[in-house]
Amino acid sequence: MPISYLEESHIFAIRTARSSYLFGINDSGTVQHLYWGSPVHAGDCADLLRAKHHSSFDAAVDRETEEYGGWGGLLYAEPALKVTFGDGVRDLLLRYDGYLMDKPEELVIRLADEYYALKVNLHYRVFPEFDLIERYVTITNGEPSAVRIEQAMSAIWSVLSLPAYRLTHVTGRWAGEYQLRSDVLSEGKKVLESRRGFTGPHANPWFAIDDGTASETSGHVWFGALGWSGNWKIAAEKTTFGHLRVSGGINDFDGSFAIAPGESYTSPVFTGGFCENGFGGMSRQLHRYQKAAILPGSRERKVLYNSWEATEFAVNVQDQKVLAHKAARIGVERFVVDDGWFGARNSDRAGLGDWQVNPQKFPKGLNELIDEVKSLGMDFGIWVEPESVNPDSDLYRAHPEWVYQFPTRAGSQLRNQLLLNLGLPEVKQFVLDFMTNLLSSYDISFIKWDMNRTVTEPGIADERQQREHSDWIRHVNNLYEIWGELRRRFPNVEFETCAGGGARIDLGILRFADQAWISDNTDALDRLHIQEGFTYAYDPSVMMCWVTESPHGMNGRRLPLSFRFHSAMMGGLGIGANIDRWSEDELAEAKDYVEQYKRIRLITMHGDLYRLSSLRHSNVAACQYVARDGQESVVFAFQNAQHFGAWERRLTLQGLDPDALYEVDAGDGRAVTQHGSTLMQVGVALGFSGDGQSRMIRIARVER
Ligand code: DGJ
Repeated sequence: MPISYLEESHIFAIRTARSSYLFGINDSGTVQHLYWGSPVHAGDCADLLRAKHHSSFDAAVDRETEEYGGWGGLLYAEPALKVTFGDGVRDLLLRYDGYLMDKPEELVIRLADEYYALKVNLHYRVFPEFDLIERYVTITNGEPSAVRIEQAMSAIWSVLSLPAYRLTHVTGRWAGEYQLRSDVLSEGKKVLESRRGFTGPHANPWFAIDDGTASETSGHVWFGALGWSGNWKIAAEKTTFGHLRVSGGINDFDGSFAIAPGESYTSPVFTGGFCENGFGGMSRQLHRYQKAAILPGSRERKVLYNSWEATEFAVNVQDQKVLAHKAARIGVERFVVDDGWFGARNSDRAGLGDWQVNPQKFPKGLNELIDEVKSLGMDFGIWVEPESVNPDSDLYRAHPEWVYQFPTRAGSQLRNQLLLNLGLPEVKQFVLDFMTNLLSSYDISFIKWDMNRTVTEPGIADERQQREHSDWIRHVNNLYEIWGELRRRFPNVEFETCAGGGARIDLGILRFADQAWISDNTDALDRLHIQEGFTYAYDPSVMMCWVTESPHGMNGRRLPLSFRFHSAMMGGLGIGANIDRWSEDELAEAKDYVEQYKRIRLITMHGDLYRLSSLRHSNVAACQYVARDGQESVVFAFQNAQHFGAWERRLTLQGLDPDALYEVDAGDGRAVTQHGSTLMQVGVALGFSGDGQSRMIRIARVER
């Protein structure tokens, strides 16, 4: 039983395969967090459960370790919940009110205000095999008047007694997402957040905590990821009593909303986990959890071609057909037409919102291209950006009232576009209708759903209709409902989440998305950094990577085709270059890599990822994927630059059976047979000499 309640000591104990999580009801009736870490005997921990007093300035230290403390009384730490009752009282005093355990893996702790009919249920769903707990809350208003919610976190994760707390997270910007950062926290708060209406490229709702000594392969790591694709906030607060509390949920900034009498609010899920084996182990737990409990499917990732970087807005049926023929020749399985196929979309200045096929570009309709693509043995995918509109569009001319805007303000344009208020029922219906029409009119197997600007001026042009700030929330909920409905109506269509690159990837949208476009930066070397940061939190099976031109359009870097392919083969392989300009030799080489990829993709998709070496610490980046049955493995290694007198480095592998024999094929005629112990302790020679080198090494167990 993963969850138990110790009656005598009033302690709830959650036990996963390799962790314990304890909290209890203390003598002041609050739910106090006690312990989270390596497995312990809960029965030994009764003495942790005491209300603690320090001074009249710190009257109830235990309040800062509450599982879910409401603001009121003696709470000065970041509150989990802050409300204003109908009579103006802002003091919330939540007390334990019982528990429910309908399923062995699920626990509900009931809290109730001492005076007002406000109930808060804390939900725990345990994944014992991944050492993870999903947490969220439901808040029910039993009062006769509305209750205003000013802050409602999904959960607070506490780590109470490390000598130091180091926070690892990602930061970035457009074309430079998922850059890893680590800082030892001093007392106070470090806030990671988005106020831009979507998940954002500047931060991502994932964190990891260790004592400053954990490495890729060792050390205790506490971590969490929030499933919300709108404004979010994660605050890591180190208190002056040496506790760490990481609260997370929908951002309270400009985010207050009301719960009407008799109604409830349910927060997004904040998943937390513990790992004894460093950051690598943490990532593998998160990846396995995403495969098992988050992602909507596990279909084999098709090799795709996307014509965006080749043609940009200059889409026409002839050029797309030429590209489709070349793509089919090199083994591509899915041909995707990006932006520019609809309306008057000849640049980013017009047409967004007019989702009719452009008759100049496709005089005989879109089926002419789709039929050609299908006759070449590929399936067909298409790009959309349903939440956006150009002012120069028929949609905007017909419905200027549909965009976010305050009545007295012109509204900010970004990339010459405005955003539709998806929270409005008529806008939601419009998006559902045009997407349904598109997907039922054409044989489309794949949708790339983009969003190329942040939310600004989140109001409505008509001042009589100004609504709650909760438009921020409604947009995201309606987005999820639309994706959910489209998936139900079109179960064979796959969906990619994209927001000008990787700005909308989180555990919320990943419940609906098969794959994710993680960055518009397709330079294969920059990508190694972006992909590394991405895999700390997210499963590489969703990570789409394209092979594009050299020199690269963004930074002028020249890299051989081998490097560009190997870098992209670590996720879902795509090709985004203008392959019509590639020589016969390049096409033949590309065909060979595509074939190699098809032979290893089940390992990269379903296997476990081990990050062997990082460009953050050396001139070699390397990742290894090990099939779940342990029979096969594949390693990708890269040398960015050869430095002064560097000696040849051997790369030590991970995740193999030390006593088993493996055949190691480095693709250069150097196939050898060695024991797992040798490969993991002595390592393999990479044979790199020079800049921009890469290698794919295949490993197969020979003793079955
Ligand atoms: C941003 C995306 O990330 C690109 O891949 C491409 O689809 C463009 N938008 C098209 O406008």
